[in-house]
Amino acid sequence: MSAVVLDNVTKVYPGGFLAVDRMNLRAEEGELLVLLGPSGCGKSTLLRMIAGLEEITAGDLWLGGKFANHLAPRDRDVAMVFQNGALYPHRTVRGNLSFPLEIAKADPGMTRERVVELSRALHIDETLDRRPGTLSGGQRQRVAMGRAIVRQPSLFLMDEPLSNLDAGMRTELRMEISSLVRALGVTTVYVTHDQVEALTLADRIAIMNRGVLQDIGTPAQVYNDPATAFTAAFLSSQQLNLLAATVRTPQNQFILLDFGPHQITMPWTDPRAYAVSQHTGSQIIVGIRPDALAPMPEKAEGPSFFGRVRTLEYHGHEWLAYLEAGIPSVTVPEPPDPRHKAYAGGANGSRARSMMRRLWGAADDAGEHTPPPPIGGTHRRADLIVRLGGRPVWRAGEHGRVAVDVSRLMLFTQAGGRIDPPRR
Ligand SMILES: Nc1ncnc2c1ncn2[C@@H]1O[C@H](COP(=O)(O)OP(=O)(O)O)[C@@H](O)[C@H]1O
Ligand SMILES: [Mg+2]
Repeated sequence: MSAVVLDNVTKVYPGGFLAVDRMNLRAEEGELLVLLGPSGCGKSTLLRMIAGLEEITAGDLWLGGKFANHLAPRDRDVAMVFQNGALYPHRTVRGNLSFPLEIAKADPGMTRERVVELSRALHIDETLDRRPGTLSGGQRQRVAMGRAIVRQPSLFLMDEPLSNLDAGMRTELRMEISSLVRALGVTTVYVTHDQVEALTLADRIAIMNRGVLQDIGTPAQVYNDPATAFTAAFLSSQQLNLLAATVRTPQNQFILLDFGPHQITMPWTDPRAYAVSQHTGSQIIVGIRPDALAPMPEKAEGPSFFGRVRTLEYHGHEWLAYLEAGIPSVTVPEPPDPRHKAYAGGANGSRARSMMRRLWGAADDAGEHTPPPPIGGTHRRADLIVRLGGRPVWRAGEHGRVAVDVSRLMLFTQAGGRIDPPRR
């Protein structure tokens, strides 16, 4: 049985703001599911609906197989930790950790034992007799986490618990959260806007943007095989190259991705060939990570781009080159902004849509499903970003040729969805 099931869960705030749009998601028993997305995309809203702190406007929530939309927070057996885990200032660390057990009238001997055990696991056993005011930020977050988990809830919800800590502490506590929740086997939904945190912690990552689920899968699935251009861009450590290309199939011999001044061919034997050929004559978006491009000798054969090296950038562990290749690039396609007054949900959310129509009065039907802006309007000629590794093989102003790893091209429609279905 899944520990958490969200079925078309939607949140419209009073005033009409659509913060979460028909979210479908499940977390399995014992799973660490990370909700990842930029600030304002609806992560906290979603978590608070699971906790019962925010009313669900439409859709169904199931917790441990039980319909939970209207369950009071205390009847959900969930524990939550926020960015600033507030502690009781006049209680010691021991007092803070034991408080939930005291309220539950647990056996005092068991409580003492459990508190000591947990404080060891969280590396705060030395601080048990101190007050929160004397602790570092990292120690306070450990106490907040301990206090949430001490009653062994069935579900642990964490909302950016590390975002107020400095980088070193964040890394340390991140590893400990990972081992702690896995050791306890508690199903955890963890919210963050930090892709490194998501990739390192998660069993699976659910990526959100503007209240809409973009992708869900293991870290390797969403990184290597992203379902949308948004996911690909959001998970890239360096900026993702997003290029406009026209698909051509000259005499049906092969597929040609026409980037304007450059062309790349894809043989019919490529597993994506059939899906791409369906877009013959149309423009698509091609995503290329900077490390899928590698400098190659000027005269060598093979799929490549070339251009003038505008600038080189030193990043410590690597160099990046910015190549003027004259290829039109596009911005990341996004779902319609829910603040748009005409927006009233997508094509197949009739329940949410009629509800929103009620909330907003008669919706402008023409704008019922506002498409993302056409990529024709977002063209610019940005530089191609190339990862050079530890050595700057070029100098600024030189001409450079880069080999394109065709197998690593990511192909998206103009709306940002994958052309060849991701494997999940
Ligand atoms: N009580 C509220 N009333 C109206 N809008 C809200 C309220 N709470 C949050 N929002 C809006 O909903 C969107 C999602 O917020 P939130 O869930 O906090 O995002 P995140 O946690 O991903 O940063 C934001 O645009 C925010 O301004
Ligand atoms: Mg938030």
